[in-house]
Amino acid sequence: MAEAIKETVSNLIGRFSGSAEEAPREPSAEEFQQLQKKYDDAGQGHVFAFVNEIPTAEKTQLFHQLAKFDSTRINELAETALNPPKTEQAAAATLEPLPDSATASILDSDPADIKRWYDAGLKQVAENKVAVVLMAGGQGTRLGSSAPKGCFDIGLLSQKSLFQLQAERILKLQELALKAHGGQSATIPWYVMTSGPTRKPTEEYFAEKNYFGLDKSNVFVFEQGVLPCISNDGKIMLESKGKVAVAPDGNGGIYQALITCGAREDMRRRGIQHIHLYGVDNCLVKVADPVFIGFSAEKDVDIATKVVRKRNATESVGLIVQKNGKPDVVEYSEIDKETAEAKDPKQPDVLKFRAANIVNHYYSFRFFESIENFAHKLPHHVARKKIGCVNPENGEAVKPEKPNGIKLEQFVFDVFPITPLDKFASIEVRREEEFSPLKNARGTGEDDPDTSRDDIMKLGQRWIEAAGGIVITEADAFGVEVSPFISYGGENLEFLKGREIKAPAILEREE
Ligand code: UTP
Repeated sequence: MAEAIKETVSNLIGRFSGSAEEAPREPSAEEFQQLQKKYDDAGQGHVFAFVNEIPTAEKTQLFHQLAKFDSTRINELAETALNPPKTEQAAAATLEPLPDSATASILDSDPADIKRWYDAGLKQVAENKVAVVLMAGGQGTRLGSSAPKGCFDIGLLSQKSLFQLQAERILKLQELALKAHGGQSATIPWYVMTSGPTRKPTEEYFAEKNYFGLDKSNVFVFEQGVLPCISNDGKIMLESKGKVAVAPDGNGGIYQALITCGAREDMRRRGIQHIHLYGVDNCLVKVADPVFIGFSAEKDVDIATKVVRKRNATESVGLIVQKNGKPDVVEYSEIDKETAEAKDPKQPDVLKFRAANIVNHYYSFRFFESIENFAHKLPHHVARKKIGCVNPENGEAVKPEKPNGIKLEQFVFDVFPITPLDKFASIEVRREEEFSPLKNARGTGEDDPDTSRDDIMKLGQRWIEAAGGIVITEADAFGVEVSPFISYGGENLEFLKGREIKAPAILEREE
């Protein structure tokens, strides 16, 4: 039995490595007919409209692509997405901030608490119980780069990409954990979720950069699922005569993908107990932050989330709240003006609903054990898009000028409402220290490569000044890029006390 389990695990792990793709097996005529019948019965038979016009290899690929989907389930998803059942408006729901017992704020916590969380979290790292899951399957349409977002050079003096910054923070944290607690090694495995469009370039980039110095056996690149794109009248769309148009199933696809690709199994094998999950686009992300791990472990919750303070009542951010007594996220468009502007009775100078969601979550491994119970139940949200396709009537290519179909996406935070309130917590962190997302193309002035770079430079400068260093600035010449190899979160900079640094500058190594 133990052998069988071991074998399954190693098979699953083998799938991480993305070995060379084998040519798919040609289906028998009978297999082909059976599949065609399923799609016919589901009213989606048009996906086979051109099988007699395409080469055998393409026909085989179409077969395998369609065999992965359940046509009846696709119909159900399309029906619910296109004709959603009437649900209670957020305005009609009871919204409250999370209870005090479930929240903390780095802004006003007792430094002794923060230190206790940090020490406890670092100990978990030293004991090899912490893993990191990165969501990097998005297509980054607003940024407009053809490469994965994680490879993007935001214009730092070091030219480091987002992936590299994150990898170096992992390396540094492993070193800090070893130093503090001793032992043979401290390993934080890094599970990187990609998608059809981002997998290959991500794998190639990691290999080219030699995994940024991480041990290759602790980096797992895997791929999230896809779903067919659906036309406005509920039909599966064809990208070409022999290929269905598909799109990644949203960042909520992470849960199913963790099982399918064997990542959860690998975590179990390693004895992982705490997981930090985040989105690739935040250049300030404190990967596997010991404070966050220690805080969440002490609260003994299944899910915790980092939030930043909403800037003002009109900022368009999702908010972490309790909705009808359950943890949830409400979008800015879902709450009325009065709710958005309400003040906190305990602190009248701040908003009552101010906990902005930054896609930065903690999970207990215990929670990951229950993925099978909820992954298929998470709702699919509709994104109306312009989808290049062929007309199923005549096979002609269609380049739409307005949205002609929908992509179906699950959201990572849709698990919040199924988590009991007493198993959920949230910690407020400083935006200028922990959150600066890369969303838009250069020149937008908001959440773009320049704001990302500037925020890293400003943070480095603040760290150095706090350690007694002197940064000489002039108009646009500001900031210091502090390499994660020197400091993970502002520590270890005492050696700069009294020293002058002319900005902009970069500190790569202590010497
Ligand atoms: P966003 O919703 O901001 O999407 O993703 P995006 O792809 O980065 O950018 P746009 O909207 O196309 O311009 C938030 C996080 O979720 C991940 C992204 O990689 C990002 O880290 N994500 C999104 C996935 O991993 N898979 C998806 O299917 C969608």
